[in-house]
This record gives sequence, C-alpha cells and structure tokens, in this order.
Amino acid sequence: MGKRTEFLYLDEDDMIKAGVLDSEACVNTLDEMFQLLGKGDYIMGGANHNEHGIMITFPDNPQFEGMPANGPDRRFMAMVAYLGGRFKVCGEKWYGSNIINPSRGLPRSVLMVMLNDPDTCEPIALCSGNLISAVRTGSVPGVGVRYLARKDAEVCSVIGAGPIQRACFQGIMVDAKNVKKLVIYDIKPEAAEAFGQWAKETYHVEPVIAASSDEAVSAGDIISVAASRLKPVEIKNECLKKGSTILFTGAATIDPAYLTDCKVFFDNAKMHEAYMEEAHNDPAGVEAAYKNKMGSSIYRLIDQGKLPPVTEIPSLGDVACGKIPGRTSDEDRICMMTGGMPVEDVAWAYELYTRAKEMGLGIKLKIWDSPHWS
Ligand SMILES: NC(=O)c1ccc[n+]([C@@H]2O[C@H](COP(=O)([O-])OP(=O)(O)OC[C@H]3O[C@@H](n4cnc5c(N)ncnc54)[C@H](O)[C@@H]3O)[C@@H](O)[C@H]2O)c1
Repeated sequence: MGKRTEFLYLDEDDMIKAGVLDSEACVNTLDEMFQLLGKGDYIMGGANHNEHGIMITFPDNPQFEGMPANGPDRRFMAMVAYLGGRFKVCGEKWYGSNIINPSRGLPRSVLMVMLNDPDTCEPIALCSGNLISAVRTGSVPGVGVRYLARKDAEVCSVIGAGPIQRACFQGIMVDAKNVKKLVIYDIKPEAAEAFGQWAKETYHVEPVIAASSDEAVSAGDIISVAASRLKPVEIKNECLKKGSTILFTGAATIDPAYLTDCKVFFDNAKMHEAYMEEAHNDPAGVEAAYKNKMGSSIYRLIDQGKLPPVTEIPSLGDVACGKIPGRTSDEDRICMMTGGMPVEDVAWAYELYTRAKEMGLGIKLKIWDSPHWS
C-alpha cells in the first residue's frame, strides 16, 4: 500500500481570511526572506540558480488555428524557487497576462501559487495567487524603506497610482512612520484622485495631486515608481533631492547623471546578472532585449563601464543580513531597483498557508489514496 497524498486548496477568500492583505506581516516575512538571500539559503531556476522565470510569448502571426497571438503584456510565466531557513519549501508562481482581461471582468493577470514538500515532492498547497503577488510586490519597497530610507522622511511621492502602487504604499508605510504628505502623479487624473482619497482615509496623510512626474519626484523624501508602460516614466537627476530614496517597482528611464551619482541597490544583483547575460545572448540583440527590462538604464551604464560590474552592485539581502550597510548618511541619494522574484511569492504563500492551516481554512484535495503506478 502506497502513501495517500492530499494538499490544501486555498481560494482568494481563504487568502484574505489568512491575512494576505496584511502588509506589515508581509514586509516582516520578506525581510526574513531577504536575510536568507543574503546568506545564500535559496535556489531559483536556471543553471545560475537565479532566474526570474521562464516565459511563453506568442507569435505575431500564429500559423495554427486557436494559437494565441502576441499583444501588449501578453505572456505566460513560470517562476520557481526553493527557500530555506524556517520555510524549507519549494514553490512555483504560474500566471498568464492578457491586457484585454479587464474588459471581461478579470484582472490583467491571473496567478496561482503551488507549494511543494522539497523532500517528498508532494504538493502541500495550491493558492489563489493574485493577492499574494500584489502584496509581496508592494512589500519589497517596504523592506527597502526599512534599510535604505531616512527615518525622518515626511513626504512620500508615488508615480503611477494603480493597484501595485497601492500595495507599495502599504508596504512603505509599515516603517515610514513620519510620512505626513503624499504627492501623487498619474497620467490619469482620476486614478491619482482615487489613490489620494484612499490614502487619506487609510493613513490620514495629506494627499496632493502633482501636475507632472518631475513635480512629484522633486517633492519626495521617499519616491515609489510603479506605473505601467502606457507612457514611459522619465526620472531626471535634478529632481532627486539629497537624502531621497527612490524605489523602482515599475519600469522607468533613469537619468545616467543620477545613477552615476547616487547609491544604487538591487533586490538581488545575481538575478540582474542573469538578466544581463540573457540579453547579451539574445539573437535579437542586446538593445532589443534591454527594451523590456526594468533595470535597463542601469545595465547600459554597467556595459559602458560607468557603473561597477553587476555583481559588485549591492543587494538588499546583503544589507538585511548585516553583511553590508544600507544607508550610511542622511545626505545619500539612494535608488533601489527591483525585478520581482519567485522566492518572494514562495515566502509569503508559505506564511499564509501556515496561518490557513492553523485557522482550518481551505479544502483538502486528494491526488491519490495510493499511487496507481509507483
Ligand atoms: N517588480 C515586480 O515584482 C512587479 C510585479 C507586478 C507588477 N509590476 C509593475 O507594476 C506596474 C504597475 O502595475 P499595476 O497592476 O498597478 O498596473 P495598472 O496598469 O493597473 O496601473 C498603473 C498606473 O500607472 C499609470 N501610468 C502609466 N504610465 C504612467 C506615467 N508615465 N506616469 C504616471 N502614471 C502612469 C496608469 O495610468 C495606471 O493608473 C506594472 O506595469 C509592472 O511593471 C512589478
């Protein structure tokens, strides 16, 4: 007789009951995860153990009936990781993205997270992943603020006022206890208005709508960039004041004069090294590959020798585990570039799975009473 295998299925309601929207818990969980990254107790995909994920893109003109066609933000992505420490779990975030989805009453991307026992390989949980992913994304700038921002920061500026920015602001506010004013810029004024109203009600901050991204960036002690790619965001050197911390969750074109003058941190330099290697081997050419990469403004300066080699740029994990200092002066201008990592999804999903089990949430699903062929 073989072994019965079952796992917990957790839908979005279960995730909410388990506390997926609790940014403070998520920032603390990701802080722990970054400490493990700094120590090296993790593995992501690929030969270098540091790949973001593997993507399916569709052809512009499919030759087969029913095959999807390429389009903006159209992809499927599998992001895999093992995380050590108290987690000791393998997992995968698997999602598809289609920009048409909102007109169907669906989010642009639909995400699931699977967790597995790293020893027996059995699944232990399958979770609705949209809120896991959004909140973990916003909690990375939260960890960034913990180690890199001035403690007396009073003004937070946000560029882009969509759902990911909402999660970023929640994450930032976990440690930015002195923020009193929020400056918002979005190309859609109604999005900025709604964001300001929500932030005022939730955090009692004074919302100010900026007329341009320059105005918002110039005002910020902490600046969060999380805009979609509808229109490129440009960040100018002269706008960033002394002591500011700018956190990139969404793409932007960043002034080289700023990047060569400020202190640059990556979420994980080894993942950016993997991105750069992949771009240099891309048959379409490095520039074409850099076009869609979050860190391209930094990568180009590394290629030109104007910034140190990618692995010499400090990583947040090294700061979190105490190997290197974060902010050392109130005068420093600091930039943190993130790319999104499966270890973040695995860490937050595992924490929520643990809570869900304690709360008796979810449905147990059986794979087999005894495997038919074993
Ligand atoms: N790093 C990560 O792990 C990670 C994960 C998920 C999403 N993201 C990024 O976050 C971005 C935002 O996600 P979302 O779901 O909130 O997108 P969204 O499209 O729902 O909202 C983005 C907002 O940005 C605004 N915008 C677009 N261009 C702008 C510009 N030039 N200046 C100011 N505002 C602008 C839009 O009007 C919109 O209100 C995504 O495009 C993606 O790049 C990053």
